Amino acid sequence: MARLQHFGWFFSRGFGPQGWGRDDHRWGYRWTEPALYQQAVRQLDQAGLDLVIMEDAVSLGNDETLDLRVRAAYGGPKHDPLLLAPYLFDATRHIGIAPTINAGITPPYLAARQAATLQHLSGYRFGVNLVTDVGSARHVGAEPLGHDAAYDRAEEWVDVVRRLWHSWGEGALVADEDTHRFADGARLDAFRHRGEHFEVAGPLNAVPFAGGDDPVVVSPGGSPRGLGFAGARSDVQLALAPLDAGSVRAYRRKVLDAAARHGRSEKDLRILFVLKPEVVSSAEEADRVVAASLHPDEDVLRQVALAWSSDLETDLTRLPLDAPLQASAFGDHVSQGTVRGLLGKQGELGVDTLRELLARKARKGRLADRTGLVGTAGELADVVEELGEDADNDGIIFSGDLHPSTVHRMLDDLVPELRRRGVLRREPGDGGLRGNLFDF
Ligand SMILES: Cc1cc2nc3c(=O)[nH]c(=O)nc-3n(C[C@H](O)[C@H](O)[C@H](O)COP(=O)(O)O)c2cc1C
Repeated sequence: MARLQHFGWFFSRGFGPQGWGRDDHRWGYRWTEPALYQQAVRQLDQAGLDLVIMEDAVSLGNDETLDLRVRAAYGGPKHDPLLLAPYLFDATRHIGIAPTINAGITPPYLAARQAATLQHLSGYRFGVNLVTDVGSARHVGAEPLGHDAAYDRAEEWVDVVRRLWHSWGEGALVADEDTHRFADGARLDAFRHRGEHFEVAGPLNAVPFAGGDDPVVVSPGGSPRGLGFAGARSDVQLALAPLDAGSVRAYRRKVLDAAARHGRSEKDLRILFVLKPEVVSSAEEADRVVAASLHPDEDVLRQVALAWSSDLETDLTRLPLDAPLQASAFGDHVSQGTVRGLLGKQGELGVDTLRELLARKARKGRLADRTGLVGTAGELADVVEELGEDADNDGIIFSGDLHPSTVHRMLDDLVPELRRRGVLRREPGDGGLRGNLFDF
């Protein structure tokens, strides 16, 4: 019997003109209006996915590299996904929605109240993707912290937010119409939190959740400190790893070890791996796609360069293609992790030409032989099923635009295949997002 897994969707470039200029998006593509996302999320709801996580960045980034972000809309503009969430709830019945919130930008009291409101409005289907990016601090006059200190602050943030959610004690909400008694103020916790990063007074001006059913906290950071955060505080970790059983097992081990240090176990959190497959209709087509990718033309290289330029805040399109890429091409503000991402396992600064590096990024492989992500729905289902069996994987988060054409392309054949194999749920769980995530 196959292992049942959880599935979700990562709206990977957030609420903006993602996929700008793509031919298949030209069909009534009004990205500032809700209809497009409502249609897409309805499909995900009907398919039996548990949640949608919505990426976000508050800032357009570094002053000097603004044009790189907006030129082809790779890094902005982005509208606030929190405000899109109610439209998505209204269009669906079971699926959970988790917009991104930055613990360094949104004060915990405000976030706790907004989340509580949306948790009630949605029938307990709300979640928060909590991120620690410090580049946007200047927009709100906050101090930019170091990488690990930002995680310390996020832990304090989550603790305060949860304390606020629980600041209505047992029996505080009376709601007795006969006696006209709505609530018992003596049972509210007017605590004073004075921590390293926040000073917050309780109680929260919002009613409590039945059964203590808090909004779900998702975390995406993959550094040792990020995994420590996940083990200590998260309900869901968005995981990135090569999708072979050994890598998935190793990643799970690290998060679960961190969880164990905080008295938690695999019963308390779900580790879901992010995957962006290219699903095609036949093995022959998959072979053709892979073969074509081995010889990228200048147009493809330019597209790859543009996409990486935004993330690297460095205009790769202006650099010579056939000279070795030098470390000096990147300013101090550029994330070393992103540079390593461009280089990959084999790449070396000062040795590989930009053309070689970009061509490697454009290269695709087959799901069937585990060299890449191109394959049929059946081949993809084989990989997913295998990870459940061999690595105890909790589930997969598919990644892409929240656009009906992207959802159709990825899921139309895959969903029936996963369901037939008993890997994807047949019925929604009982009781909101937390209920769905923890019912098996
Ligand atoms: C799958 C995934 C999704 C992410 N989504 C966001 C996001 O929506 N907004 C954001 O500011 N950072 C996002 N991040 C970045 C992380 O929050 C974090 O800042 C980054 O991974 C660096 O932290 P780390 O060194 O612990 O990995 C994401 C990272 C991953 C791997």
